[in-house]
Amino acid sequence: MARKKIIAGNWKMNMTPSEAVALVNTLKPLVANDDVDVVFCVPAIDIIPVMEAAKGSNIQVGAENMYYEEKGAYTGEISPAMLTDVGVKYVVLGHSERRQYFAETNETVNKKVLKAFEHGITPIMCCGETLEQREQGVTMDFIRQQVKVGMLGVTADQAKTAVIAYEPIWAIGTGKTATTEQAQEVCKGIRECVAEIYDDATAAAIRIQYGGSVNAKTAADLFAQADIDGGLVGGAALKPDFGQIVNYK
Ligand code: PGA
Repeated sequence: MARKKIIAGNWKMNMTPSEAVALVNTLKPLVANDDVDVVFCVPAIDIIPVMEAAKGSNIQVGAENMYYEEKGAYTGEISPAMLTDVGVKYVVLGHSERRQYFAETNETVNKKVLKAFEHGITPIMCCGETLEQREQGVTMDFIRQQVKVGMLGVTADQAKTAVIAYEPIWAIGTGKTATTEQAQEVCKGIRECVAEIYDDATAAAIRIQYGGSVNAKTAADLFAQADIDGGLVGGAALKPDFGQIVNYK
């Protein structure tokens, strides 16, 4: 069965709640496309207003992070139940910015991935190499470790519903999109890694996105690759361009 493309916006730390509502109202008609899953991953405080504004549209709302404990003395964190209580279905986990600035590791990402599944939230688990690692020729080794540790304890049935976002760090927010060949090569490598951990059926079902300076010009070529099932889009998700990305065909 063909995998449905999933095109997600990652708003990062942008948009106040009122700006968020205005942006959703602008984008709503532009991102209409039932052939793909359209997800807006937004700051926690924007989740409820964005859901309200997106009502009746094809926009699904996701979070940008989540903690791996159920509840309690974790000041400043958001629990999985808080997300599911308002209807959140997706959560971005292990974004390179969280790894870089907030000390997330493969191990904490794994705890979050397991917790997300426990609560029926689909993780969009991010991985990606630095420029230095790419130049050293260790891209795939590094990513395989991120994927293997990130998915520890995840069952095949859960993995089939997961989303992995391949985001080379050197391509994030730099305007430097990976070439379609580079993106396809790593996404294929991730799928092979999933086949090794699980089986061919799981590898065929899991959705793998590319992220890193995706824009209205590069989306069509990227999403046409055999192993690229959509994108995780930062900067361009805050502009009408996101409509063109969602309707890339
Ligand atoms: P970018 O961000 O599209 O602005 O490069 C992508 C991401 O970090 O998810």
